[in-house]
Amino acid sequence: MASTDRVVLAYSGGVDTTACIPYLRHEMGCSYIVAMAADLGQGDELEALREKALLAGADESIVVDAKDRFVRDYGFRSVKANALYDGQYPLSSALGRPLIGDLLVETAHAYDCGAVAHGCTGKGNDQVRLDLTVALLDSSLRILAPAREWKFSRADTIAYSEKHGIAPHVTKEKPWAIDLNVLGRNVEAGLIEDLTWEPTEEVWSLTRPVEETPDTPEYVKIGFAEGVPVTLDGAPLAPRELIARLNTLGGRHGIGRIDMLENRVVGVKSRELYEAPGMLLLIQAHRELEDLVLPADVLAHKKPLETAYAKVVYDGLWHGPLRAALDAFMDSTQQYVSGEITLRLFKSRATIASRVAERAMYQHELVTYGSDCTFNQASAEGFIDIFGLPSRVWNQVNG
Ligand code: ARG
Repeated sequence: MASTDRVVLAYSGGVDTTACIPYLRHEMGCSYIVAMAADLGQGDELEALREKALLAGADESIVVDAKDRFVRDYGFRSVKANALYDGQYPLSSALGRPLIGDLLVETAHAYDCGAVAHGCTGKGNDQVRLDLTVALLDSSLRILAPAREWKFSRADTIAYSEKHGIAPHVTKEKPWAIDLNVLGRNVEAGLIEDLTWEPTEEVWSLTRPVEETPDTPEYVKIGFAEGVPVTLDGAPLAPRELIARLNTLGGRHGIGRIDMLENRVVGVKSRELYEAPGMLLLIQAHRELEDLVLPADVLAHKKPLETAYAKVVYDGLWHGPLRAALDAFMDSTQQYVSGEITLRLFKSRATIASRVAERAMYQHELVTYGSDCTFNQASAEGFIDIFGLPSRVWNQVNG
């Protein structure tokens, strides 16, 4: 079994994870440290990130480009389930954590490490997601979380880093914390914690304020194959490219801002801001397509499972049995979810402009009031008689 002195650290390049490197070596007894930065599209300069970890004392430093995998295997999976946590949040940050956990485990195996580490604090969701992902994939790995045990203030962390020869590049700090990836952007903490504070424009970056959106609407046609987004305006696109274009397009029209109170796994409520135009457009279009091709009873049963799905993802139980069972249900329904939905983007709103599916359950000759109608109206009277029977009986019996 690999030694637990050998550790893979999930590295972001921030002040905290950088301080984790000397902390793991000097306070937690690690002798070999691999810094693993997962590139999910946070827009960092990757070579600089890699070198930063080495300068902080890591023995190895790797950057894994996980953007395609992230969108394809995590983001688009979640779209099949129309997953919105607390009815609003398309899980853009949450979905990244099982992937980072997966990469930690894969890297630990590749580098013969018996431990993994991360820089999450003890108050957030991310520690839950990372710990659970690792524990469910390989329970023999030891999990180290320096920032959960050190009692450093920001100034302490900087002083500790300096003591170990790292001069943290502390730029003038933003009065909030940002988490960015290809699926969306999250802003929390600092000023956001004041519930009476209305976000000013500099909080947002992917979306325009409605006042500055174009005065003419724009249309985009999203094509799905078995529940997976595959084309925009008829052109096949790789997952990462597809979501990037929708983010740009939606953002330009001021779509995708969320300001919500969120119920964290660890029991506290927190206020969170998100920008996720692409994910929200995909879910809206996908829902519409499902309405067109799936029968009412399947749709009705899918709905509560979508809520369950969002919670499982949010809670970090990606590798648990419930997500697997829910995915089996989702995949079974998605075989029929192929077609094209056109959205009209205008002034912070997307509306449905057109729906097309080869296997649509919408049948014009059944629903039309025209003379070509094939619906048998003669059957209606008997249907209503029996359909209303239990209610009539109840009313008779109970007055
Ligand atoms: N509150 C959001 C969530 O739990 C965002 C977390 C972002 N993580 C971060 N370290 N800033 O999904």
